[in-house]
Amino acid sequence: AQMQDLSSETVKKAKDMAFVFDIDGVLVHGDRLIPEGQRVLEILNGDNELGIKIPHIFLTNGSGKPEKPRCEQLSKILSNPISTDQFIQSHTPMRALAEYYKTVLVVGGEGYKCREVAEQYGFEDIVVPNDIVAWDPTIAPYRVFTEEERATSRPRDFSQTNINAIMVFSDSRDYATDMQIIMDLLRSENGRIGTLAKDPVATRIPIYFSQGDMLCPTEHPIPRMSQGTFRIGLEAMYKALSGVDLERVVYGKPELATYKYADEVISSWMEQIHDDERLPSNVYMIGDNPASDIIGGNMYGWNTCLVRTGVYQGEGNDKENPASFGVFKNVYEAVTTAMKKQL
Ligand code: G3P
Ligand code: MG
Repeated sequence: AQMQDLSSETVKKAKDMAFVFDIDGVLVHGDRLIPEGQRVLEILNGDNELGIKIPHIFLTNGSGKPEKPRCEQLSKILSNPISTDQFIQSHTPMRALAEYYKTVLVVGGEGYKCREVAEQYGFEDIVVPNDIVAWDPTIAPYRVFTEEERATSRPRDFSQTNINAIMVFSDSRDYATDMQIIMDLLRSENGRIGTLAKDPVATRIPIYFSQGDMLCPTEHPIPRMSQGTFRIGLEAMYKALSGVDLERVVYGKPELATYKYADEVISSWMEQIHDDERLPSNVYMIGDNPASDIIGGNMYGWNTCLVRTGVYQGEGNDKENPASFGVFKNVYEAVTTAMKKQL
């Protein structure tokens, strides 16, 4: 009977915890598996002493394609099923903006994938920079526009359209063109291309960024610039041209809105796994970037675990944003230590 009590007590504890995983630098490097990532997902999906599932969600600043194909791709790499119901990428919470703006400029990403993302979020009228270039190539004087790009763009008479907001969803593939068009819109009257507002602020349309990372680790030995640096460039140019500061909204880790959204996803995933939507008392976030994963998790009261398989390579804990639960060699060490402590 005592054994029974003990194990039911352990099950109760196991049901009061959840994991939040960063993706890049924790579970994978681009398309390359970090083997410990596959193992921890097997453990959390039931291959553990208790034989129960431990809820876990994925919270990435990644972007650029719809949730469904991204989850399919990750399921394949990690050999474990990943549902869109347990998955948040940088622009996922921006779906809530679809009801506020009719016509939006969507910037960034490969080809037309971000147009597709915006369509799936329910945005009604989506414009991408190439649509504007196809209508008037002089808007981007140094741009070489290929036939293929022309064929996939949707030009219209933009002198007749007000764009209601700018959504930077993913990294710009052409800073010169994207910055020029964004600047034209920010300085226009109510988002009408070809106009220049007299008052820089009164009729300015809002701009949103899906995340604020300065750098992104890639195949290149030194990390490459990401949306954060793109935004800072824009802010400086805007200030120089208009004389006023640019107001903007940033999503993604470590912004509060993203963690609040994560709580909603944890709660509905708890419901799916344990039939109980209450948030667990113990949430463990595992990340590789002190400046986004760890600082945000610490502010939000999660137990944070910093791993050494990605951005962070320092000795000991990070000085500025130390992980509250500790630093680990890899995600396997972090998850098994957390489970030992908890159960
Ligand atoms: O910097 C953008 C992206 O690559 C970061 O992804 O999963 O580490 O948040 P993640
Ligand atoms: Mg990462």
